[in-house]
Amino acid sequence: MARNTIPSWLFFTQILLPVVEIAAKVPAIIVFGDSSVDAGNNNKISTILKSNFEPYGRDFEGGLPTGRFSNGRIPPDFISEAFGIKPTVPAYLDPIYNITDFASGVCFASAGTGYDNATSDVLSVIPLWEELKYYKDYQKKLRAYFGEEKANDILSEALYLMSLGTNDFLENYYTFFSDRSPEFTVEEYQRFLAGIAGKFITELYSLGARKISLGGVPPMGCLPLERTTNLLSGSDCVEEYNDVAKDFNGKLLELVVKLNKELPGIKLVLSNPYYILLEIIEKPSSFGFENVEVACCATGMFEMGYMCDQFNPFTCAIADKYVFWDSFHPSEKTNQIVSDHVVKNFLAEFL
Ligand SMILES: *[C@@H]1O[C@H](CO)[C@@H](O)[C@H](O)[C@H]1NC(C)=O
Ligand SMILES: *[C@@H]1O[C@H](CO)[C@@H](O)[C@H](O)[C@H]1NC(C)=O
Repeated sequence: MARNTIPSWLFFTQILLPVVEIAAKVPAIIVFGDSSVDAGNNNKISTILKSNFEPYGRDFEGGLPTGRFSNGRIPPDFISEAFGIKPTVPAYLDPIYNITDFASGVCFASAGTGYDNATSDVLSVIPLWEELKYYKDYQKKLRAYFGEEKANDILSEALYLMSLGTNDFLENYYTFFSDRSPEFTVEEYQRFLAGIAGKFITELYSLGARKISLGGVPPMGCLPLERTTNLLSGSDCVEEYNDVAKDFNGKLLELVVKLNKELPGIKLVLSNPYYILLEIIEKPSSFGFENVEVACCATGMFEMGYMCDQFNPFTCAIADKYVFWDSFHPSEKTNQIVSDHVVKNFLAEFL
């Protein structure tokens, strides 16, 4: 009994001592990754992987198709809002924004990209190393506009979000034309990807980043597109892909532990969306969803990008009833639930 009693001196100490270390507020959200977090960079490059047309964005502010792969907002938007910053994080290549806007949040992500250069080659999108090149360019502009001191302050206190990896498996390794599957076992490929993630984070750190969220991959065997390939098994989730996702998240977690020991002052966390998404997928009705196997857009079985367009008569009326918006991407409502979970469970130390 006595063990649990809070000593009264502790109570007084906390009241009397000034708070020595006030956690600095996060001034900006800086995003790297794939379509899970791309706010529209692909609009400006030559790729067929785009979503800047209706019905994408129909529940976004103004009903605007921005190039986000959803009916509304995506996780960086919700996270930025939860941190008291702005409700949306703009794409770096979007010409309507300038450095003043980007000072409080900027997105370098590109739909279709991966850790592996061979993945971004598949649909000619921005490879991860080039996202970093854009980030260096951003640093220059930030310093030129705000001065060295203020810019460095923003860069070191910002929260960096990384979200990618799914495409390395589904758009590359597991496709029949992949050069990677003859080259690596899936276990080796995971290590190869985690190695690239490690190098990327180390470089980001050397450029001044300190607060970094490394995103895990989702239960990717349950994406409607993958269920469609599993028709013979009753459109169940592809368990092999889910197992790979779990294994890969395990390797990312090992990386996070290692880098936190090696890089002084870094605060690196793994934001793992796997279990909350699996919970939504297994018990959709307890989150208010009515459809999980197929997506809202078109037939919901395989369409995304240009195949999910405004002329498709099958697109659902209320996306909030669907876990997935198109065959590869969550609806805004799912994004909101997952983001809320990530903020509370993985990013709380930065709040
Ligand atoms: C950026 O655009 C806003 C208006 O959208 C303007 O007020 C601001 O001065 C611009 N900043 C720069 C650096 O051009
Ligand atoms: C990806 O390509 C860039 C540019 O050619 C190169 O610098 C980098 O080393 C490559 N990354 C990997 C992991 O091969």
